[in-house]
Amino acid sequence: MTETYIVTGGAGFIGSHIAEHLLRRGNHVRIVDNFATGKRENLAGLADYAASGALELHEVSITDKDALDRIFAGADYVFHQAALPSVPRSVADPLTSNEIGVTGTLNVLLAARDAGVKRVAYAASSSAYGDVEGEYKTEDMVPNPQSPYAVAKLAGEYYCKTFTKVYGLETVALRYFNVFGPRQDETSQYSAVIPRFVAAMSQGKPPTIYGDGTQSRDFTYIDNVVHGNLLAITAPDAAGEMMNLATGGRISLLDLVGKINTLLGTDITPVFAEPRKGDIKHSRAGTDKARDLLDFAPIVDFDTGLARTVEWFLKR
Ligand SMILES: NC(=O)c1ccc[n+]([C@@H]2O[C@H](COP(=O)([O-])OP(=O)(O)OC[C@H]3O[C@@H](n4cnc5c(N)ncnc54)[C@H](O)[C@@H]3O)[C@@H](O)[C@H]2O)c1
Repeated sequence: MTETYIVTGGAGFIGSHIAEHLLRRGNHVRIVDNFATGKRENLAGLADYAASGALELHEVSITDKDALDRIFAGADYVFHQAALPSVPRSVADPLTSNEIGVTGTLNVLLAARDAGVKRVAYAASSSAYGDVEGEYKTEDMVPNPQSPYAVAKLAGEYYCKTFTKVYGLETVALRYFNVFGPRQDETSQYSAVIPRFVAAMSQGKPPTIYGDGTQSRDFTYIDNVVHGNLLAITAPDAAGEMMNLATGGRISLLDLVGKINTLLGTDITPVFAEPRKGDIKHSRAGTDKARDLLDFAPIVDFDTGLARTVEWFLKR
């Protein structure tokens, strides 16, 4: 049966991959995006779906509740990806980060509740853990956000859980850990590390590492995140739950530079700068909860994902 999915932030990196996957499976998709950081070229490959009516693009902010009510009417599921996803941006402008991340998320949940959607999957963030001790970040740890961005993402999680309890709206919050892959923006000072490094190094320029480069991340290839979202939207025991969505791996920024050098056939040395406010040292996910509740396991490993990402950047 054809189902109708809302993807907020669907013109962004992660949202556009989710939308593409849903369309390829024969569903209807309504994207809600105001193009704050999203790009039209992320949707360029979906023009045929737009022409056939399977894809609707609504250029609207999630702060506009009336518009969300109109767009959500008759929808089955919501993937809520819209946000201003950047720690330094939130440090510079916490009010906007809160308006989109907290008030915007509340609007999305209210519109989903009022439209009677079956479930909302929410893009939560590993930044909620902040600098909690322990090599693996597990869902039972008390969050310790270190930036306005992390606070806003965490508030969104709490709203999700509360909507399940109070209104019976099924929600699942997925804490993503450093997602990467094709279409990720590399052009802004707020861009994530992998696209920035690949873009710089593929032009023969040194990447800038903030800190000494021993900091590490559980870099998660985009296909794994799409896969986890699709499992989360129907998994029988997941409603009202929050869980990590990651690989459980750990790559330092120095290792990352080495791997990109290998893929590009270069020998570029990074430059080092002062650590940035709000950044954390290590981030690695415990993955048991997603395995138990979603039957999730990564479908693409880090090296394969990085090779695909580098290839995409070189071909653009
Ligand atoms: N990329 C990661 O590593 C990562 C990690 C943890 C969590 N997340 C979360 O995943 C989600 C997607 O992130 P992404 O990496 O694809 O970023 P992105 O910037 O590519 O996508 C975000 C999208 O949201 C849209 N948006 C922003 N404000 C909006 C508003 N007011 N109304 C409607 N749309 C709006 C943007 O235009 C953009 O298309 C975000 O919620 C982010 O917090 C991402």
